[in-house]
Amino acid sequence: MTEGIVLAVIGGGSSYTPELVEGILKNAEEFPVRTLRLMDIDETKLNIVGSLVGRMIEKENLSVRLELTEDRRAALKGADFIVTQIRVGGIKARIRDEKIPLEFNVIGQETTGAGGFANALRTVPVMLDIAKDIEELSPEAWLINFTNPSGIVAEAMLNYTMVKTVGLCNVPIGFINQFANMLEAKVEDVLLDYVGLNHLSWVRKVYLKGKDVTDIVIDKLIKNLPDKEAESIKILGMIPNGYLHYYYEKDDVLSDLKTSPKTRGETVLEIEEQLMKKYQDENLREKPPELSQRGGAHYSDAAVSLMKSIYLDKKDIQIVNVKNNGAITDLSEDAVVEVPCIISGKGAIPLSCGSLEPAISGLTQTVKYYEQLTIEASIAGDRKKAKQALLVHPLIGNPRIIDGLLEKIIEENREFLPKFF
Ligand code: G6P
Repeated sequence: MTEGIVLAVIGGGSSYTPELVEGILKNAEEFPVRTLRLMDIDETKLNIVGSLVGRMIEKENLSVRLELTEDRRAALKGADFIVTQIRVGGIKARIRDEKIPLEFNVIGQETTGAGGFANALRTVPVMLDIAKDIEELSPEAWLINFTNPSGIVAEAMLNYTMVKTVGLCNVPIGFINQFANMLEAKVEDVLLDYVGLNHLSWVRKVYLKGKDVTDIVIDKLIKNLPDKEAESIKILGMIPNGYLHYYYEKDDVLSDLKTSPKTRGETVLEIEEQLMKKYQDENLREKPPELSQRGGAHYSDAAVSLMKSIYLDKKDIQIVNVKNNGAITDLSEDAVVEVPCIISGKGAIPLSCGSLEPAISGLTQTVKYYEQLTIEASIAGDRKKAKQALLVHPLIGNPRIIDGLLEKIIEENREFLPKFF
């Protein structure tokens, strides 16, 4: 990295990219990106987003060389850091993932349940293809993955490839920011005892400058939450990841989704269209405030902090997705978990979490087995494994619907699932 960092963003035409770039430019001194490669298969979006990024760089007067390409291999060649943020099939596929499960009376969501399953079937093979290119063209690069379903993708990358991967999500950093605000404290003074999987995690304890402030945080949280969400916090004595409401309030969520006029993906499609229009304004030279309507708040902070700590060998603590290696005693060594880790030039080393409380252990293990079965199904195009994954999943698990649900998912995603035909 003598000539500065080469950073490749796969899925660089995403409307989120200006957020990432804002973080990179803000950290230019400590994390000096010299070449920023944005790669995307959608030429139109790549050019719109790329032009805005060009204006953002110009405004900061930094010597970052910007390269836009549709050639993935060219983007990956010799990269030091790679961020993957792809959506196989685009938002249209997400909308299908949200709608198909509802026809079978189960929750449809981008990362969780049958929707997340369909997303994984499409995405894992593409990510493994990207991994092959990285192994060949930039074997020393660090891959930071945001591609959803992020936990399953990290599990696949870390167990089926040689790529130096860290899986990332904005939820942990979101919690830290939320609690710091609540406690009127600095973000760096807050430490979480956090366990679980991506989108299936719990904050067991919150520490402020080493003092246990969990009860204070829980009290404040409960006051501002709807009763049903407050109830699960009270019962557990822990703070669940927002995605756990798909499990704890399954029936309510299902009826809300069924009566909602639009899916989240349909809303996101509209926001994206507005953002793309906005990005084309030649006078726009920064991330517009409308981007905050998306769920990925703080994603840039999470990505840049992580890359910075690897680059500078900081040895600080961040919550990321890595191989368990004994951190959670209830799960196997290879299982990918979302836990606090020491981040250094060697990557992420998970801190010991011990065993999971009985109230959360069973769900965590079951979802991990679901994730592993889903990966096996997607790699081999194996319908039997796919059905087992759906049967194991706590939000599906009804053998009477599984055949129909799986066939519909496979049929509607035919062009992305060649292994199944
Ligand atoms: C959070 C989750 C991401 C997810 C996003 C959805 O950031 O951690 O995994 O992609 O929300 O936001 P959206 O605006 O696309 O609904």
